[in-house]
Amino acid sequence: MSEELETKLKVYRGAAGEEPRYDEFDVPHEEGASVLDALVWVRENQDSSLAFRYSCVSANACKECMILVDGKVNYACTARLNTGTVTVEPLANKTLVRDLVTDIVPPKERLGSAEDA
Ligand code: FES
Repeated sequence: MSEELETKLKVYRGAAGEEPRYDEFDVPHEEGASVLDALVWVRENQDSSLAFRYSCVSANACKECMILVDGKVNYACTARLNTGTVTVEPLANKTLVRDLVTDIVPPKERLGSAEDA
C-alpha cells in the first residue's frame, strides 16, 4: 500500500492596502498535477474565496495565471506541483488586486475613463 503524498500550499492572501497573510492548505498530490490544479482544488474544497485567474490552461496563450511559485515567476497552469511546501504569491512588479490576482493589463489596453474621451 502506497503512502498518500500531499503538498502544503502556502498561499498569499489579502487585497491591496490590507495587511497580507499566508494561508496553508493540505492538497492531495497527483502525478502530473499543476499548481493551478492545486489552486482549483483549494477553491472547490477548502476556501471558495481564494482569488486567482486563469483562462487558456496549458496553452501558454493568455498568461493570466502568472504568479510567483516558490519565489519565481511561473505559469500556474504549467508549473508542476511538487510535494512538500509550495509557496504561491502574486507577481511582485504588478499592482495587487486580491490574493494571487494582479492587474496585468498593459496601460495602453485599459478602457479610458469618461474624462479621457
Ligand atoms: S491559463 Fe493561460 S497561460 Fe496559464
